[in-house]
Amino acid sequence: LTNPFAGLGRILMVGCGNMGGAMLGRWLQAGLDPARVTIVSPSGRPVPGGVRVATSIDVDAMPDTVVLAIKPQQLTPVAEALARVPGEARLLVSILAGVEQATLAARFAARTAVRAMPNLPVALGKGVVALYGTAAEPEDAERAGALMRPLGLVEWVADEALFDVVTALAGSGPGFTYRFIDALAAAGTALGLPADQAARMAVATVEGSGLLAAASAGSPAELADRVASPGGSTREGLNMLDRDGALVALLTDTLAAATRRNREMAAAARGA
Ligand SMILES: NC(=O)c1ccc[n+]([C@@H]2O[C@H](COP(=O)([O-])OP(=O)(O)OC[C@H]3O[C@@H](n4cnc5c(N)ncnc54)[C@H](OP(=O)(O)O)[C@@H]3O)[C@@H](O)[C@H]2O)c1
Repeated sequence: LTNPFAGLGRILMVGCGNMGGAMLGRWLQAGLDPARVTIVSPSGRPVPGGVRVATSIDVDAMPDTVVLAIKPQQLTPVAEALARVPGEARLLVSILAGVEQATLAARFAARTAVRAMPNLPVALGKGVVALYGTAAEPEDAERAGALMRPLGLVEWVADEALFDVVTALAGSGPGFTYRFIDALAAAGTALGLPADQAARMAVATVEGSGLLAAASAGSPAELADRVASPGGSTREGLNMLDRDGALVALLTDTLAAATRRNREMAAAARGA
């Protein structure tokens, strides 16, 4: 296997909170040399793996790779500080929700700017990272993909308008899945199981089912059919979820609401 970090050169990571910290933790686990990384964190709070932490952007030349993991509201001060650094990055990757690729390209000196949307399971290497950057130099796109691969499934999105939907499905997806787990447990509790036991079984059931779905050549629908023999109890339960497309309708409304909110936040970020 080739080193996924080859070709990224020196890496400056601006912001390393919940999501940035999860990504960095996984990168270090996957073999990223901490000596190549500088983190900017105004509080100077410790970050994983003994990488260098600076409280402001103090580099005297633009590093090859810049990763932006700040809050979208911090974009302007960070862009201003980076504009004072001489030179151009080869690759800039931003995980800022709602901040469009054109904004990144306009505000940062980088040969290629790629917009990314990771989700929290990247901490385990089981995340989803959606990427967008049509104008990317093929070599830079390759590097961005390679950087994200240790974090989980990497999916390039062809149309940036769909990034808001991807953000709803994969970015917010863990939140929705946690609700499903809790609902499964609550339903078991309502039918008489001890709450703690139902909670443990719900988490383990979703974990195992997800792993099986990921490992199987069959579709989830085929897997569902395999555990639901006609006239059996699983079939009876599935009929409830499927009645009038109840679950699909609920999740369509759920993703639509999150997508709408992503569009609003993107519009606000454009106006900022
Ligand atoms: N959480 C998610 O599930 C998720 C998913 C996808 C994308 N995102 C995106 O990820 C980004 C970060 O989210 P988060 O939840 O990780 O936020 P967070 O925990 O608040 O982390 C923000 C980081 O930015 C640093 N920072 C603040 N002001 C700065 C400045 N002026 N210059 C440099 N660094 C600065 C903070 O450093 P100090 O701690 O030192 O102040 C902190 O490390 C957001 O843009 C969000 O849209 C999040």
